[in-house]
Amino acid sequence: MRPLARRAAELAADRSRADAPATAVELGCGIGIEARFLAASGFTVHTVDEDASIEQAMATLSTQLPIHHTRADLAQLPELPRTDLLLSCATLPFVPEPAFGALWARIREALRPRGILAVDLFGERDDWAGTDGTYLRRADVEALLDGLEILELTEEERDGRSFSGPKHWHTFRVIARAR
Ligand SMILES: C[S@@+](CC[C@H](N)C(=O)[O-])C[C@H]1O[C@@H](n2cnc3c(N)ncnc32)[C@H](O)[C@@H]1O
Repeated sequence: MRPLARRAAELAADRSRADAPATAVELGCGIGIEARFLAASGFTVHTVDEDASIEQAMATLSTQLPIHHTRADLAQLPELPRTDLLLSCATLPFVPEPAFGALWARIREALRPRGILAVDLFGERDDWAGTDGTYLRRADVEALLDGLEILELTEEERDGRSFSGPKHWHTFRVIARAR
C-alpha cells in the first residue's frame, strides 16, 4: 500500500456522508491495491488503467467492492467523473508530454470543492527524463498547482534502483486541496 493513498484517504475522509459515500478516482491503478484500500475505507472508486492484463483482476474486485474500472489510455481520456479524491501513484510521468496538459485540465475539472489531489510526478533530473513521458521542473509543478491549497510538495532526489537497474530518481510527491 502506497503511503500517499493512505494519507489522501485520511484527508478526504470528511467528504463521506451517510447518504452519499465520497468518491475517489485512481489513475493508473495497476492491480488495484490502492483501489481496494479506498473502497474498503468507504469510497466509491473509479479506476482507469490502459493495461489489458489487469482487466480480469479489476472485474473480480468490482464484484466485491464499489469499484468501477475503465480500460483507457490517460493520454486520450475525454473526461473524468467529479470526485472528492483524485489519486495517481507512479503513473502520470508515463503520460507523453504533448498529452499531459489536457489530462491535467481534466484532473483539475474533476476535483470537487475541497477535493483532495494526491499524485506522484517526476522531475527533470530523473534518469528517465528525455524518454516518452512528462518530466517537470519545480516551477512547472508549482504552476500546475496554482489555485489549489498545497498540503504537501516534497521534492526528492536519490540514487536507487528500478526494474531495469540502477537509477537516479527525481520525484515530486504532491497533496493539494481544491478550494
Ligand atoms: C508503475 S505502475 C503503478 C501502479 C500503481 N499505481 C502503484 O502505485 O503501484 C503504472 C501504471 O500506470 C499505467 N499506465 C501507464 N501509462 C498509462 C496511460 N497512458 N494510460 C493508462 N494507464 C497507464 C500502467 O498500466 C500501470 O498499471
